[in-house]
Amino acid sequence: MSSAGAHRLLLRTIRCEDTGRRPLWIMRQAGRYLPEYRALREQHSFKALAGDAELATEVTLMPIRRFALDAAIVFADIMSPLPALGVEFDFDPGPVVANPLRDRRAIEALATPAPQDVAPEVIKALALTRRALPEHVALLGFCGAPWTLAAYLVEGRGVKEFPTLRRFAAAEPELLDRLLTRLSDLMAQYLLMQAKAGADAIQIFDSWAGLLSLADWNRLIRPHLQSLLVRAGEAGIPRILFLQNAPHLVEAYAALPAEVLAVDWRVDLPAFRQRHPQRAVQGNLDPAVLLAGPETTRSATRALLSSIHRRGHIVNLGHGILPQTPIASVEALIETVHAETAGS
Ligand code: CP3
Repeated sequence: MSSAGAHRLLLRTIRCEDTGRRPLWIMRQAGRYLPEYRALREQHSFKALAGDAELATEVTLMPIRRFALDAAIVFADIMSPLPALGVEFDFDPGPVVANPLRDRRAIEALATPAPQDVAPEVIKALALTRRALPEHVALLGFCGAPWTLAAYLVEGRGVKEFPTLRRFAAAEPELLDRLLTRLSDLMAQYLLMQAKAGADAIQIFDSWAGLLSLADWNRLIRPHLQSLLVRAGEAGIPRILFLQNAPHLVEAYAALPAEVLAVDWRVDLPAFRQRHPQRAVQGNLDPAVLLAGPETTRSATRALLSSIHRRGHIVNLGHGILPQTPIASVEALIETVHAETAGS
């Protein structure tokens, strides 16, 4: 499925080939820091934009038209496949679930969709984007990790430290297991459809990975993430596994089957690389650095580049770009990545 794009810089780096320079993309690169995105948002809600394949394609292409990025990530949300289960939610600005799932009845009532009924607008947007994308730019699909999706479904919305979710995990481990099984089955179907639609690689976002202890993570969560990754691997395209705010779990995630481990800025990437010299990595500039302006961004980017060998390193932020980020800082990041290898 991916062979047509095998020469793309991002994919060559994932294979740890010796490339001329490192690839760069930015988590949440199609979003509110872009004036053209904000202008479009004045006419359409986020849900309307993400729900329409043509509009979503336009937004996916916005950062590619403006910047020399090496990958486009389809404009959707981690919640996009959940209507196929019968779940209703809105955005304010993050996901708000109308009826959080907290008992057996609610979990047993989830629908079992056919693969073609899981976020068909996202699958169509991937195909449309691939047609419009410059040949050398890789196309990324994505999904939320089962645990991060469960976090919104059980808690109802993003709140600090997710106490209702953690209560549920402690009180109802069997129901949590049932929910995570349903979510990993759905995500496996969804990623397979994304690969068929032309995604060169997929990223699994485990933004709320770090809420539980290592022991509880191993017992309750790891089997489901492992099973999703194995099935995604069967789609034949590389897997980027992102964990956020979970320094105590980095080694546990490194043991899972994914070609690339993507980490946030809290993680010591050079030290990780020393322990895992064969593993491709992605990251991990602090998104807040870009708020300090282009000069600070330039020096922080140089420091990142010199701290880690370029082979197998995808440059990215450690979490999503912040809405108040100056465009000049994004330009400084990109110029610095391009300049590094001009001579080497
Ligand atoms: O990266 C991209 O440019 C592709 C699009 C993308 C969105 N959401 C669009 C979006 C991706 C990859 C996501 C993933 C996502 N969504 C995650 C994982 C990554 C992360 O940031 O941890 C999570 C946890 C969500 C849930 C979510 N959706 C939140 C917390 C929010 C609101 C606040 C925010 O961070 O923007 C959303 C809404 C959302 N998803 C917006 C966008 C562009 C903002 C909507 C708007 O008001 O225009």
